[in-house]
Amino acid sequence: MKELAGKAAFVTGAASGIGLGIATALAQAGVKVMLCDIEEAALSAALEQLRLTNVDVDGVQADVSLKDELAAAAEATTARYGKVHILVNNAGVGGGGSYGTWTEASWNWAMGVNLMATVWGIEIFGPLIEQHGEGGHIVSTASIAGLISGASNAYNVSKYGVVALSEGLRGELAPRGIGVSVLCPGFIRTQILNSRRNLPKRFEGELRTLPTSGPLAEQINLIRERLSQGIDPMYVGELVREGIENDWPYIFTDLEFEPMVEARFAAIKQGFDHIRGRNPER
Ligand SMILES: NC(=O)c1ccc[n+]([C@@H]2O[C@H](COP(=O)([O-])OP(=O)(O)OC[C@H]3O[C@@H](n4cnc5c(N)ncnc54)[C@H](O)[C@@H]3O)[C@@H](O)[C@H]2O)c1
Repeated sequence: MKELAGKAAFVTGAASGIGLGIATALAQAGVKVMLCDIEEAALSAALEQLRLTNVDVDGVQADVSLKDELAAAAEATTARYGKVHILVNNAGVGGGGSYGTWTEASWNWAMGVNLMATVWGIEIFGPLIEQHGEGGHIVSTASIAGLISGASNAYNVSKYGVVALSEGLRGELAPRGIGVSVLCPGFIRTQILNSRRNLPKRFEGELRTLPTSGPLAEQINLIRERLSQGIDPMYVGELVREGIENDWPYIFTDLEFEPMVEARFAAIKQGFDHIRGRNPER
């Protein structure tokens, strides 16, 4: 989508971090932005800040992992802005647990917010974007953990899912005038490690307490340290705007993990090499 000014966008997880960066960059490019988030106070604060500048933004509170709430947020968006052109499925939660620490609730929470909300978002907003015939774009925030698996299995699975969904939909939606990008950030300076602040009541008491000592605690501390020195989410917002304008399939934020992605590709290639030259009939 080369011309962003005057278009309308719906951005989830927009009250803070990367989502706020994306909402800000789009609003500054002249896009009308509906910010959606579960966290009401942060959403009000974000809107207040954004409205200090000359932008057209509004907000709607929703737990995007609940389809009914997401559908109501979509209705609020069309009621406010009429047409919607850009969908950004960005809301996400860290964790979900590694082997020995995950629970059914931790899987449901991570999969619900990170993956199923993306599925519902596309299901609900896809037809809204299609129906006006002006074209549009869908960006979904995965992670570099959607291409190389890190320590948290539920998180990895949810993010690989977002990459798979985006890759599949790109070909499917292009003829319908909708571009599809997947955002795979590295370490970004956000509150992602404090995701439990938004744990829905239905999962309360169902997640393991995070350890304060031992290898997992050390790993979490290392990630906390890296995140605190991570990339500015406002810069990520600018990259996403550029990705939408130029229809990039993959939006990366930096080169740190490129060698690890290459190592994964090399391991996959080695798997093919093991059977190269064998008779496929056998
Ligand atoms: N920070 C990083 O280093 C990093 C790296 C890779 C991917 N990501 C991804 O970026 C996205 C944004 O995360 P962030 O880093 O900005 O973290 P963040 O915690 O600062 O922001 C996440 C936002 O999502 C909202 N949210 C959480 N659950 C929600 C729900 N059920 N419904 C609606 N909104 C909800 C939060 O209130 C918050 O505003 C996530 O999908 C995350 O997995 C982050």
